[in-house]
Amino acid sequence: MKPIQESALSFRDIEAAAARLKGTSLKALFGADARRAEAFTIRAPYLTLDLSRQRIDAGALAALKAWAEERDVAGGRDRMFAGEIVNATEGRAARHVALRGDGGPAEVAEGRARMRALAEAFHAKQVIGGAGVALESILHIGIGGSDLGPRLVFDALRPLKRAELRFASNIDGADFDDAIDGLDPKKTLVIVVSKTFTTLETLANAKAARAWIEAAVGKENASKHFAAVSAAPERAKDWAPAERIFPFWDWVGGRYSLWSAVGLSCEIALKDEAFGRMLAGAAAMDAHFKSAPFEANAPMLAAAVQAWNREGLGRASYALVPYARRLELLAAWAQQLEMESNGKRVDRDGRVLPRPSSVVTWGAAGTNAQHSFFQMLHQGVEEIPVEFVLVKDAGGFGRTPLLANALAQAQALMLGRSEEEAFAQMRAGGMDEGQARALAPHRAFPGDRASTMAALDDLKPESLGALLAFFEHRTVAQAFLAGINPFDQFGVELGKEMASKLIPALEGDASVDDAATAAWVARLTR
Ligand code: F6P
Repeated sequence: MKPIQESALSFRDIEAAAARLKGTSLKALFGADARRAEAFTIRAPYLTLDLSRQRIDAGALAALKAWAEERDVAGGRDRMFAGEIVNATEGRAARHVALRGDGGPAEVAEGRARMRALAEAFHAKQVIGGAGVALESILHIGIGGSDLGPRLVFDALRPLKRAELRFASNIDGADFDDAIDGLDPKKTLVIVVSKTFTTLETLANAKAARAWIEAAVGKENASKHFAAVSAAPERAKDWAPAERIFPFWDWVGGRYSLWSAVGLSCEIALKDEAFGRMLAGAAAMDAHFKSAPFEANAPMLAAAVQAWNREGLGRASYALVPYARRLELLAAWAQQLEMESNGKRVDRDGRVLPRPSSVVTWGAAGTNAQHSFFQMLHQGVEEIPVEFVLVKDAGGFGRTPLLANALAQAQALMLGRSEEEAFAQMRAGGMDEGQARALAPHRAFPGDRASTMAALDDLKPESLGALLAFFEHRTVAQAFLAGINPFDQFGVELGKEMASKLIPALEGDASVDDAATAAWVARLTR
């Protein structure tokens, strides 16, 4: 395959800036600009984004802006908002933004009204199950984009919980067993969520749910316990009564679908109109992304910095660390969003990319993460940029030490501690010289490690919506910078196809071509 022609003359400027800044310490950048902490911090709806501890300067930003202009990132964004076909390989628009603002098609408003009506009926105890009693709990079945968003939102907004909500996603039956543990099937509404309604895991869990409900209320009454959400509503007919099938559309990508009826379980299980407020917060971020100039545009700048770290400086991964227990699932959600969207090797026209553009997204909540992988972030050989997410007005006990720890980690990553300082500190503590000399390299921190600090104003539905929309837009903007399509995901297909052939092989009904897999089939069936 022909390699991509690097039309991006301006990428040479990125390379030049990267070469220059690789030899410049973050401390020196702060030393050279007394206003740096403010100059590289921008404000977006509900969010303050501080990029001052990234290895960038005005020259690098100018190069990134020129690159974004050459790649027409703003044009791509505008085409996405206008509902044009931006997902060319599947011939689809990507209109998730139409789900949360004004101006979407009429069926969006109709769908929202139906979601609200079901939520109201549920809480008015008018959704009656097969045993003649009102349903009180929800079991959400779905996987990937049909699972991670609602799971994160429910966890993040748990203080607004008004109904028990459980999730089953994995094909491993243990997941289903755990999800229904303690739930009464006579009082449970099962919401089956699948864009395609062909997904193996989801159909298997839905089948298990049906058996569970049927055993409690009888076969003829089971459908009273089911609702379905799908972009292929005709396939959902066997699973839920027509009035409980909630459509969404092929112009909503799975990992961008939280804002559609995929969020039905959150609409029902959260009070205070949380779901609608989340849409409003996301819409505020949409307006910012659409209109703010590059220098003041949080998703644009954050995308440029991601691309800078990956394509300019060669950093293959970053750690996403929310200092908020309630945002613990953020990394798992962002992992699908970013890696399924941008984990590509060819550009929009099928040409091989000149360099890797996708970043490995991983992470966990702080402070737990400090007691796990921060050792490597501080003292490992490679630099791994960190993205801290804080909640300014978090509430609850522990706020001050939580925030102090987040600030301290970013500070330690940047400032480090030299061998001499480590030596002097040990000597001051009374250690003998030889031992202090021997230990100094182990107790030194190289520092000069980049991080971003993103602070949410609070953890209300509006701010959560804005945060998730920020990540979506950053992902898409980064894809447009790299020239790739962030809306398809053919990379998940091959393994699925092979698994469907290996199921009969493991059941003894088919042979296997390759020796390594054949050996495992033999070992597992012996
Ligand atoms: O993992 C692949 C994938 O296709 C994701 O893109 C999607 O979110 C998930 O499977 C679930 O698909 P569906 O909603 O069609 O069941």
